[in-house]
Amino acid sequence: MRQLLTRLEQASGLDRISDPLQRGLQAVLKPRFLRDALHGVQLGHPLHPALAMFTAGSYTSASILDLIRGQEVAATTMVGLGVASSPLTALAGANDWAELDKEQRRVGLVHLASNAVAVGFYAASLASRLNGNHHRGRLLGFAGFGVVNAAAFLGGHLAYAQGAQVNQAATQLHRISDGWHPVADISALPHGMPVSRSIGEVPVLVYRDGDRVSVLLERCGHETGPLGEGRVVDIDGDACVECPWHGSVFRLNDGLVMHGPAGSDQPVLRTRVVNDVVEANLP
Ligand code: FES
Repeated sequence: MRQLLTRLEQASGLDRISDPLQRGLQAVLKPRFLRDALHGVQLGHPLHPALAMFTAGSYTSASILDLIRGQEVAATTMVGLGVASSPLTALAGANDWAELDKEQRRVGLVHLASNAVAVGFYAASLASRLNGNHHRGRLLGFAGFGVVNAAAFLGGHLAYAQGAQVNQAATQLHRISDGWHPVADISALPHGMPVSRSIGEVPVLVYRDGDRVSVLLERCGHETGPLGEGRVVDIDGDACVECPWHGSVFRLNDGLVMHGPAGSDQPVLRTRVVNDVVEANLP
């Protein structure tokens, strides 16, 4: 299985489909509010996994109900919910996918294609059930369930092995020991302009706004882009930093994610000033 997954990650032939599809999606999903909503920016949590749980949960429920005599209506309802929710689940996943790197996109492409096949089985299953042919609907449902599980396996590989859309900043927090760490003399900090510092080996971004100082992790939670090299932008009167890699934007005062593809806030450390030295501690 490991070899199969490695070969899939290295299957450069898939780029002939993946690259134009990525460009097409980016062209279609142009409005930023739409991309942000599909990334889960307003929720502060990636949207696709939550939707996928609903869709896959509906299909799983249908498969269990199909094993119980007299549950045809309930099983048909579950299949209907799964089919109805799948377009939005797929759209949110495709929006995330368009921001991934090549190896991740190859696995994601097969994940997407497998799910499309599964939806085909379930749509046919739903049609059969609604026409009264529950036996055929059940068989098609079981076929779809097999495919959807294979697709879910690839989705798990994308997240857990390849780190796609996982908050990369979270692991950096574990590299900071508990306790207060000096990060900068407050008099040396410019107003309204973030500066890069480090706590041990963990880079942080220090931002002074009047008497208020915030300390964010410097590596972007999306794919570890260097926020210290990002430009400062103003959004509704708040200073924010824009990641130079894929354009995620975080509010400097509190790390709130303002624009994706990052779907989570950037971690912010607690701060205090002691003898004119800014110190930071774990949140
Ligand atoms: S690394 Fe992708 S937006 Fe920052």
